[in-house]
Amino acid sequence: MSTPVLPDPKPAGAALRVEGLGLQIGGAMILKDVDLEIAPGSLVGVIGPNGAGKTTLFNAISGVIRPTAGRILLDGEDITGLSVPRRARAGLGRTFQTSSLFPRLSILENVRIAVQAAQGGSYSLLRFPRRDDAATTQAISVLERVGLAGRLDTPAGDISHGDKRKLEIASLLATDSRLVLLDEPMAGVASGDVAGLVDNIRVMQREKGCTVLMVEHHIDVLMGLVDLVAVMYFGTIIALDTPQNIMENPTVQSAYLGTGTAA
Ligand SMILES: Nc1ncnc2c1ncn2[C@@H]1O[C@H](COP(=O)(O)OP(=O)(O)OP(=O)(O)O)[C@@H](O)[C@H]1O
Ligand SMILES: [Mg+2]
Repeated sequence: MSTPVLPDPKPAGAALRVEGLGLQIGGAMILKDVDLEIAPGSLVGVIGPNGAGKTTLFNAISGVIRPTAGRILLDGEDITGLSVPRRARAGLGRTFQTSSLFPRLSILENVRIAVQAAQGGSYSLLRFPRRDDAATTQAISVLERVGLAGRLDTPAGDISHGDKRKLEIASLLATDSRLVLLDEPMAGVASGDVAGLVDNIRVMQREKGCTVLMVEHHIDVLMGLVDLVAVMYFGTIIALDTPQNIMENPTVQSAYLGTGTAA
């Protein structure tokens, strides 16, 4: 009996693999031939000037937009054609550049909804939640972990910007996401709240074992947190390296500082 030939062997190892990703809108190439491979459990920063395509890349990976070229593999599975909810069920979670919480709902309700959505259940907002149901217990345990359990009943719209970002991270922690995309989690966060957020992102990586990809303009915070940094410039990734090597990379310096011609 001959050995069956598999049509598309899984590339071993990568939590996320982006191959030749492109997005053309009208005549504009918003993403151009983006290649990226992220090892499981790593924390990777994405930097680049405004308009470089960072959010668009996250939109393509999470399924909010369809790329016009290339493919995206999550743990070796091609997810390029999957809808946003199917990608979420496959283990992909994200936060948005602008807060996406429900401001009138309490801290607890926001996380409970995330738990229920991840389980594929209905939101059951109309039903008065019992404090001992499984989704609520799970939500409270995550909120304890991120330091928000003291204010379970406070409306999400009433908490500080830093706490809102923590709450978004708690909502992701409450799901079974294996790959999480964080779009500028520190943007607009008061300096006193940064350390708490950094801790929460570390919990995501070290305790939950998530692979984390985060866009962040606070370069100093990012460089102290991530394993690798990807640099985007005009819709493509021009470098992927350790924070130290990125800081010393002349192509990156020219892309940021205009001291030369970036590749
Ligand atoms: N749907 C769209 N239609 C047309 N152009 C778009 C669309 N979405 C994004 N763009 C353009 O694509 C480019 C990349 O935008 P994107 O928001 O991804 O940049 P970014 O790197 O996240 O920037 P920032 O750091 O400011 O958040 C910009 O020039 C933007 O105007
Ligand atoms: Mg952006």
